[in-house]
Amino acid sequence: MSRVSAAFLFKLCLFATLVQGLQGDERKVAIHYTGELPEAKTSVEDKHHSLLMAAIGDEEIARQAKIYSYGKSFNGFAARLLPHEVQKLSDEDVVMSVFANKKRKLHTTRSWDFLGMPETSGSRNSKVESDIIIGILDTGIYVNTPSFDDKGFGPAPAKWKGKCVKGANFTGCNNKVIGAKYFNLENAPTGSVTPADDIGHGTHTSSIAAGVAVKGASFYSIAKGTARGGASSARIAMYKVCSENGCSDMDLLAGFDEAIADGVDLISVSIGGPSTDLFSDPMAIGSFHAMKRGILTSCSGGNYGPTEYTIENVAPWIMTVAASSIDRKFQTEFKGLFGSQMLIWTLKSFGQMQTRLGLSINTFSPKKQMYPLISGTLAADTSHQSHLNASACDYGSLSQHKVKGRVVYCEGYLSQDDTIKQLGGVGLVASGDSLADVAFVVSMPRTTISNKDGEKIDRYINSTKNPIPPPPSPPSLSLSLSLSLSLTEIRAYAQPDLAAPGLDILAAYSKLPPVTEDPLDKRHATFNILSGTSMACPHAVAAAAYMKSFHPNWSPAAIKSALMTTTMPMKIKDEFAELSSGSGQINPVKAVHPGLVYDITMRSYISFLCKEGYNGTTIALLAGGKKKFNCSSFWPAHGTDGLNYPSMHLQLTDTSASISAIFYRTVTNVGSAKSLYKAKVTAPEGVSIQVVPDTLKFDKLHENRSFKVVIKGGRVKKGTHIMSGSLEWSDSRHRVKSPILIFTTDQPIMV
Ligand SMILES: *[C@@H]1O[C@H](CO)[C@@H](O)[C@H](O)[C@H]1NC(C)=O
Ligand SMILES: *[C@@H]1O[C@H](CO)[C@@H](O)[C@H](O)[C@H]1NC(C)=O
Ligand SMILES: *[C@@H]1O[C@H](CO)[C@@H](O)[C@H](O)[C@H]1NC(C)=O
Ligand SMILES: *[C@@H]1O[C@H](CO)[C@@H](O)[C@H](O)[C@H]1NC(C)=O
Ligand SMILES: *[C@@H]1O[C@H](CO)[C@@H](O)[C@H](O)[C@H]1NC(C)=O
Ligand SMILES: *[C@@H]1O[C@H](CO)[C@@H](O)[C@H](O)[C@H]1NC(C)=O
Repeated sequence: MSRVSAAFLFKLCLFATLVQGLQGDERKVAIHYTGELPEAKTSVEDKHHSLLMAAIGDEEIARQAKIYSYGKSFNGFAARLLPHEVQKLSDEDVVMSVFANKKRKLHTTRSWDFLGMPETSGSRNSKVESDIIIGILDTGIYVNTPSFDDKGFGPAPAKWKGKCVKGANFTGCNNKVIGAKYFNLENAPTGSVTPADDIGHGTHTSSIAAGVAVKGASFYSIAKGTARGGASSARIAMYKVCSENGCSDMDLLAGFDEAIADGVDLISVSIGGPSTDLFSDPMAIGSFHAMKRGILTSCSGGNYGPTEYTIENVAPWIMTVAASSIDRKFQTEFKGLFGSQMLIWTLKSFGQMQTRLGLSINTFSPKKQMYPLISGTLAADTSHQSHLNASACDYGSLSQHKVKGRVVYCEGYLSQDDTIKQLGGVGLVASGDSLADVAFVVSMPRTTISNKDGEKIDRYINSTKNPIPPPPSPPSLSLSLSLSLSLTEIRAYAQPDLAAPGLDILAAYSKLPPVTEDPLDKRHATFNILSGTSMACPHAVAAAAYMKSFHPNWSPAAIKSALMTTTMPMKIKDEFAELSSGSGQINPVKAVHPGLVYDITMRSYISFLCKEGYNGTTIALLAGGKKKFNCSSFWPAHGTDGLNYPSMHLQLTDTSASISAIFYRTVTNVGSAKSLYKAKVTAPEGVSIQVVPDTLKFDKLHENRSFKVVIKGGRVKKGTHIMSGSLEWSDSRHRVKSPILIFTTDQPIMV
C-alpha cells in the first residue's frame, strides 16, 4: 500500500527532528500537537499555558513565547522554545508530537502555463451546490475580479460561521467569496499581512475550484474561451497561510483549525513539503481532523516527479492529486519570436522543415522584424576566469555588449529570462527536452525548443560570424497558438490517488503581482496560465464538490473512492507511469454513479495506524475520547495494508522472497438495490491474483459485502520494477476499477 511505504520511509525519529530543528540558544518555533480536543473544551488555552509554564518556568516568558493555541478543531499550540524546554514538553504524557516549524512551498511554478479543466457536463445540482463551501489554504484572494462576481448568489449558507477580515489592498468579501482570513505570516512584508493575494496563486486555485463562468477570458488573447471553476455555484473561503516567504507549518495548522470550525465542506491545499512522521506533518494532522468531521481534504502531490518517493501529502485520509495535461498545447512559432524570415531562412540553411515550434506563452510583439542571434557560448564574458556556464547563460557569465540587442540561444530550460533582459537582450531561445509538454508564461520573448533543434541552431550560429538573415519579406509578428490534439498524457509524480488537469490552466489571477515572478515585469492581468499539481488539486476538489451536491451525506472516503474507481484511462509515457497517475484521470460526471464505494471507517484508519507502528496510547490521543486502543486486536487481522482503500499497493522490500499478500476489502452498494457484481482481474505475468468471493450479490442499497484479494507469485525477475494489475467489479451498469500495483524498492528503508 503506497501510504504505508511512503510514511514508513519518511518516518523520522521524533527526537532527532527536534535536535536538528532546535539546536542553539535561539528560541525556535515548535509545534506541540496533542491530538483530539478534550471533551470539556473550556480550558484548552489554560491547559496550553500551564504546559508551557511547566516547561519554561517564567510566567511572562511563557506568555510571550506562545504564538498559537489551536483549540477549535483539534488540540495543540505553537510557541518559541529552547531545546531543553522542548525536551520537557516532549516528556509530557499528553503530548502526541512536538515538531519544529518548517516552511512549505506552493506546488506550482509560476512561469509554466496550463490548460483549462474540461467543462463538466451533465445535470448540475446548483441549488445544493451553492450551499457547499470550499475552504482554500493558500496565498490569499483577489476578490474584485469577474470570476468571483456574486451576481445571483444569495447570502452565505446558514451553517457558515466564518468571517471576512479586513486588510490592505483587500476589497472585502461578497456572496461568492464568503470568508477570508490571514494568519501570522512570519517575516512577510507588511503589505502582505492581509487576506489580499499578493502572489496570484490563491486567486488562481480558488477560481479553478469555484470561479463563475467568464466568457471571452484569455491571457493576452491566448487560450481564449470561457474560464470557469468546476463547482461554479459553490462558495469560497480563503485562509491565507502563505506569503512570498513560503507557508509555515504553524499557519497551515491555524488555517485547518479555523476552516474546520467555520463550517467548510471541503478543503483544498496546493502546498507541500517533505513527508515526515504523519503526526509531525501539519497537512496530515489538519486533514485528519477535517476527515473526522466529514470534510475531505484535497492536496497537490508535488511537482518533483517523475522519480520515486517524491510524492507529498500522502496520508490516506487526504486525496492526493497528480497533474495531467489535457489536449491542447501552446506553441510559439519561431516566426512569432523573431519575425518570420529569420527562422525560415535559418532552417532552410539546415535543409530542414521551414518552421519549428517551440513552447512558451508569449504576449510580446517584437518591434523589429529581425534581430541578430548569438549563443551563450559566444557571448561569454571572457574578461575574467569564471566557473560559470556561459552556454547555459548562467547569471554573471555573459558579456553585456555581446548580448545587447540580440536574441540569445541558451542550453537548458533553466536559463533565466531576467538574466538576458538585464543585459539588454531582446529574446531567448532555450533548449531542453524535459519540459516537452509544458509552456511557460515568460517575461520576455522566449521559446523552448528540443535539444536536437538547439544543436542545429548552435551549429548555425557557429557557421557564420554575423548570423543576420538577408532582407526580410513581410513580417509575421503575431504569436500563433496552435492546438495539437493528443491523448491525455500524464506527467509523472509518483503514487498519487488520482490525476486531474494541471498543465497550462487558464484561471483568474490577482492584479497585485506581475504575471511572472520577474519583479521588472510590468504586466498585470485578470487571467493567467499556470501549471503544476497546485492546479490539479482544486480541479479534484471541484469534482468532489460536484459529487457532494448529489450525495451530501457521503463520507470523505466514499467521495474519494467514487472519484478513484471511475477514472478515465490515460496514455502514460514514462517508466514510473503507473506510480505517477494513481487510479487515472478524474471523471466527475461518472463518479456521481460509482455503483460501489470503498468506505473507510475510523476503525479502518486505526488499524492502518497500528500497522504504521503507532501504539494504542498515541492513537487514543488522536482519536479522542478515553478509550485506549489495543492494536493487536486490529492488526495483523486486516491484511497487508489494514485499510479499506480503493487501490491496492504492495511494496516489495525483499526481492529475494516470493510474492504473497492479502488485501481485505468491503464495498458498500450505492448503485441499484438488487445487483450482482462480478470480479474481473488482470494480473501481471507470473503473479496470481485471486478474489474471494468473485461475485457479490446485493439486495438493498447501502448493504456491505466483503471480499479478499490474494496475491501470490514467485520471486520478482531481476530488473523488474513495477508490475501492474487491476480488479474491476461490474454489474450491468457500473464498473468499479481498482489498480493493483506491485513494486520493488531499491532504496533502503530508513526507520
Ligand atoms: C498593499 O498595501 C500596502 C499598504 O497599504 C502598500 O504599501 C503595498 O504597496 C500594496 N501592495 C500591492 C501589491 O499593491
Ligand atoms: C552547461 O549547461 C548545459 C545545459 O544545462 C549542460 O548541458 C553543459 O554540460 C554545461 N556545461 C558545463 C561545462 O558544465
Ligand atoms: C559552437 O562553438 C562553441 C565555441 O567554439 C562550441 O563550444 C560548441 O560546441 C559549438 N557548437 C556546435 C554545435 O558545434
Ligand atoms: C507509545 O508511543 C509513544 C510515542 O512514540 C511513546 O512515547 C509511548 O511511550 C508509547 N506508549 C507505550 C505504552 O508503548
Ligand atoms: C490485546 O488484544 C490481544 C488479542 O486480542 C489480547 O491477547 C491482549 O491481551 C490484549 N491486550 C490488552 C492490554 O488488552
Ligand atoms: C456498511 O459499512 C459502512 C462503513 O464501511 C457502515 O458505515 C455502514 O453502517 C454499513 N452498512 C450496513 C448496512 O451495515
